[in-house]
Amino acid sequence: MSAEITSDETFRFDGAPVPFRPGQTVGGALAASGVVSWRTTRGSGEPRGLFCGIGVCYDCLLSVDGQRSQRACVTPARAGQDVRSDNPDAPLPLTAPEGAEP
Ligand code: FES
Repeated sequence: MSAEITSDETFRFDGAPVPFRPGQTVGGALAASGVVSWRTTRGSGEPRGLFCGIGVCYDCLLSVDGQRSQRACVTPARAGQDVRSDNPDAPLPLTAPEGAEP
């Protein structure tokens, strides 16, 4: 039996539409669409995607709507999201918390 998702709701992953069911996470929708890795480790370049699936291991980091290092396994999928694979070699933006002294 096919587990194909039929949904009008999609987000974009590196520019490609990914369908999702209501209540599904970004990671769940990617896995259901056959995408199993979306970043690589810094040292050895090993592929990473879902591992623990419960927000503990941080293996599933990606960018969602410009916010880097989001855990795909606990991020709810929403229509129109711009989801991107992560580049571990790019520097993280440095932003001070609101109200912090410069
Ligand atoms: S898979 Fe472990 S934190 Fe997401």
